[in-house]
Amino acid sequence: MVEKIQAIRGMNDILPHQIAHWQHLEELFRQLLEQYGYQEIRFPVVESTQLFKRSIGEVTDIVEKEMYTFTDLNGDSLTLRPEGTAGCLRACLEHGLLYNQQQKLWYFGPMFRHEKPQKGRYRQFFQFGIEALGISGADIEIELIALCKRFWKALGISEHLKLEINSLGELSERQAYKETLVSYFKANFELLDEDSKRRLDRNPLRILDSKNPQMKALVQDAPKLIDCLGEESRARFQSLREGLDRLGLSYTINPVLVRGLDYYGHTVFEWVTDKLGSQATVCAGGRYDVLVEHMGGDPTPAVGFALGVERLLLLLETLAIQKTAPKIPSLYIIATGQGAGQHAIELAEKLHDSGQGWQIHTNMTGGSFKSQFKKADKSGADYALILGEDEIASGQVGLKDLRLDGVQASYPVDTLITILTEKTATRV
Ligand code: HAM
Repeated sequence: MVEKIQAIRGMNDILPHQIAHWQHLEELFRQLLEQYGYQEIRFPVVESTQLFKRSIGEVTDIVEKEMYTFTDLNGDSLTLRPEGTAGCLRACLEHGLLYNQQQKLWYFGPMFRHEKPQKGRYRQFFQFGIEALGISGADIEIELIALCKRFWKALGISEHLKLEINSLGELSERQAYKETLVSYFKANFELLDEDSKRRLDRNPLRILDSKNPQMKALVQDAPKLIDCLGEESRARFQSLREGLDRLGLSYTINPVLVRGLDYYGHTVFEWVTDKLGSQATVCAGGRYDVLVEHMGGDPTPAVGFALGVERLLLLLETLAIQKTAPKIPSLYIIATGQGAGQHAIELAEKLHDSGQGWQIHTNMTGGSFKSQFKKADKSGADYALILGEDEIASGQVGLKDLRLDGVQASYPVDTLITILTEKTATRV
């Protein structure tokens, strides 16, 4: 017995019966982004390891322990992308897209992180991502948040996603704050868990993101970055808040929202739900004005977010919201007798030629009328088109509505197409 090879843990197959939900989300997202003037960009799934180390930050969970890194046959260190921002910027820089111009870009695709798999947390997961490059100020941040809200509304889930915002200020402000925070945690050293002790010297801000309930009180009482910001950073945050208020976009300020990637400064935000347990963040992002320069480009303000598609689908499923595109009317061609297969294909081609966009299944495995009707029924088709010996001899095609009346009648092909066009136009 040959041992079956299984998928890698945390990497999911997306099966035919699930695809309609994915495609519907993809289509809605694409339409929305087009309406907001964004263009799609596609960049490789594999990049040089250095790209992610430099952009995401050496002392982050992603870079320290979650990257799929390997040496290729040339001896180069490569990594499966754990997120999209780095690759998107690399592509823009490499092709001169940021030279004296703004870019509003979106992407969709798989990301890879070696995390502990659980519901809503996978090793291969998909993101819809957006990057707006070359635009400073709060207005673009507000527009991005409004766009998210519009997406949630289109999906009927807006009341289940809450917006949390924070400001991480300037690098110098974060550095000063880090010292304050380290002193605070050192004074409470015995209360820190092992993870936090390890982070204390290397990346103390991440302690604020601890999911350990034992750390909750300590984190809550910690000094807040937002209270340590200078006047300019406060003013920036204030204009974000005012803009959100003006559009009626409600939010809460989460002072311990620090994000797991190092490139952020000033505005950060997350959309969270209480319906998915600990994998509560469905969409997250923020401003990262220093990253382009850090990657070798000219200083370029930038802001973006990414949305976890599996989490969004889980949320829709939890709320029992079925979102799929309307079904295309489908026809099933049944044929028996001499040369039946050839006649069936010719009919199918004529139906495709009609340009009506019907989904057409052609039975290609023979069998009696009875067994073919069974297959037609099982396929979910709306109509059966029947080519028996009589029909073939008289140049006609039998038509039977499989879902409604079940009456069968025969027509010449042109008449059949006219009838089907009328019938399928009124059927949902
Ligand atoms: P992130 O917070 O690392 O940000 O990921 C964004 C979203 O991807 C998360 O909120 C979550 O919905 C989803 N996600 C992350 N990890 C997993 C996982 N292991 N399994 C399932 N879903 C996951 C970024 O990736 C940034 N590049 C976002 C960004 C774009 N910031 C600016 N521009």
